[in-house]
Amino acid sequence: MSQKEKEIILSVCLTCKLNEDENNSKLAGEKLAHKLIDKFKNKKNVTLRGVNCMSNCKRSCIVSLTAENCFTYVFGDIDPKNSDYINSLQELLLTYSKSEDGFLRRRHRPEIYRSNIVGRFPAINSKSNIIINLKK
Ligand code: FES
Repeated sequence: MSQKEKEIILSVCLTCKLNEDENNSKLAGEKLAHKLIDKFKNKKNVTLRGVNCMSNCKRSCIVSLTAENCFTYVFGDIDPKNSDYINSLQELLLTYSKSEDGFLRRRHRPEIYRSNIVGRFPAINSKSNIIINLKK
């Protein structure tokens, strides 16, 4: 029996810049967005949305993934010219989709997504054991 794939929201910052952007008409964030549109156009469970600045400008380019009742992850330092980031994102989304609460262990992430996490945020109702209630 196949498990229903999780609905995932993949966000990409459209206004991220890299050094070489000064000589180009398109920003690195826009270039990344176009590559992601191509990559995920047939993935029905992935909603792709562009965001005008995700407030992590020093870690350009930025993407995030989130789903209902799941951890939200933000990844940075993504170079749209490096196709490994685009191709490995598909593998990352599949792993995320299979995880009950969206928690992604470092060793389960593709190599290229192991050291560029900018943030990991539990869902509001998360029962994850990494959360400690400090106001009892
Ligand atoms: S411009 Fe991309 S995070 Fe601010």
